[in-house]
Amino acid sequence: MVVLAAVLLVSGCAPVATPDASSPPASPTASSASPTPTPTATPTASATPEPAATTEPAAAPAPTAAPQPPSTAGVDIDSAASLQVLVNKRRPLVPADYQPVLVPVSIAQDGDEAVRPEVDAALAQMSAAMQAEIGEGIHVFSSYRGYARQTQLYNGYVAQYGQAQADTTSARPGHSEHQTGLSVDVMGTGGACRLDVCFGGTAAGRWIAEHAWEHGFIVRYPDGLQGITGYRFEPWHVRFVGPEVATAMHEQGIATFEEYAGTGSAPDYG
Ligand code: DAL
Ligand code: ZN
Repeated sequence: MVVLAAVLLVSGCAPVATPDASSPPASPTASSASPTPTPTATPTASATPEPAATTEPAAAPAPTAAPQPPSTAGVDIDSAASLQVLVNKRRPLVPADYQPVLVPVSIAQDGDEAVRPEVDAALAQMSAAMQAEIGEGIHVFSSYRGYARQTQLYNGYVAQYGQAQADTTSARPGHSEHQTGLSVDVMGTGGACRLDVCFGGTAAGRWIAEHAWEHGFIVRYPDGLQGITGYRFEPWHVRFVGPEVATAMHEQGIATFEEYAGTGSAPDYG
């Protein structure tokens, strides 16, 4: 159990859904259980798409139905350096060891967190808005993770739960949005439900679910949509996609980045 708590705490990502594993970490000191590399660095770019996995067999084309317009027009979901890069189980980050430009997270955080500059600015704005509305700001407990760190975390989950279970909560190295510097794992500054699905029911979790889009973020792994995103509900994992995309998704009622981008679902590694 001690090992489990340590793994969960340092992971910054999904605990597996066994009753014990979904419990929040026992002690804030457990983060010393493993290193947290947080570079300050230099850019690079590029990636690859993946077609949709729709189930309908080829049928007669509907002459009146115009093809669905690509809502991603003008949005670069392929390049690693893009603020809208779409990374999932079917779309690896290219290069797998991409190193984004990073700045230290300027809001409440565990101590060594870093994100892309645009993300930090948006986080600060979002945290201030949340503080003003519910009297609690945002605390970041995981952010950028390099390839080596993601490998360490993923392997830890596999060792604990087996690969099938680990794959529902932790991305394989080269497939984690955390490697882009665009995603953060958050809680309220009150600290309730850290890295636990119960976060979704807290005042902070509810506020984020409702208002993140106003600041350019999406809750990347919504409840019940593992078949599309590949991951269980992670109410704490927010991804910066920029205000235009976040607003478009909100206005169109689109819950996942995969659906918005029209790339098809990514339930597994294919
Ligand atoms: N927990 C998310 C899926 C990650 O490991 O990137
Ligand atoms: Zn995360």
